[in-house]
Amino acid sequence: MENIVIREAETDDAEEMIAYLNIVGGESDNLMHGADGFKAPVEAVKRRIQAQHDAANSIILIALAGGKIIARAELDGYPGARLRHNAKFSISVRKDYWNRKIGTMLMTEIIECAKKMKLHNIELEVVAANKAAIALYHKMGFSDVGVYRNYWFANDVYSDAIVMQKSLED
Ligand SMILES: CC(C)(COP(=O)(O)OP(=O)(O)OC[C@H]1O[C@@H](n2cnc3c(N)ncnc32)[C@H](O)[C@@H]1OP(=O)(O)O)[C@@H](O)C(=O)NCCC(=O)NCCS
Repeated sequence: MENIVIREAETDDAEEMIAYLNIVGGESDNLMHGADGFKAPVEAVKRRIQAQHDAANSIILIALAGGKIIARAELDGYPGARLRHNAKFSISVRKDYWNRKIGTMLMTEIIECAKKMKLHNIELEVVAANKAAIALYHKMGFSDVGVYRNYWFANDVYSDAIVMQKSLED
């Protein structure tokens, strides 16, 4: 298999990350934006990468193949003393690389980061029809905790999202 490098995103990755998000959005109905739907300017993305780096409960990881971004995962920690032990998780992988364990590798790495940051819980929402993501999340120890009704809107259809949480305290 191709050599895959996983590392924290840096501000110099901002331009390529925008291009990545605009491509990957067109490869799946299960991401927040469709093709070319990510409109933030480079400077805003640089600030976001720096902010997540600086925060004690957040991190953005990227996976690279041949020096190109092929996957991205984020823990977005909550602000506020009463919530900051929780972070929201998100992930995407370029379609050419699906089912090659890139998601598993990124999640394994980000869970280690979460433990080092002393997070107690990681949470996420996943569209109920997204079988690959659900299989991955269950494998990585996430449990279903509820359902958000009509949470997702894609292709003119509303669909439910499953809410999941992984406890890091066990
Ligand atoms: C979901 C996603 C991140 C998974 O990444 P990946 O690199 O393909 O993940 P992995 O190869 O590590 O694992 C995928 C798992 O799903 C399983 N899977 C794939 N398709 C499946 C299906 N239709 N039904 C059930 N399980 C499925 C695979 O067998 C694998 O499980 P295993 O490791 O036990 O064999 C990737 O498909 C993706 O980016 N999709 C588009 C964006 C997205 O949906 N993001 C998540 C939003 S909540």
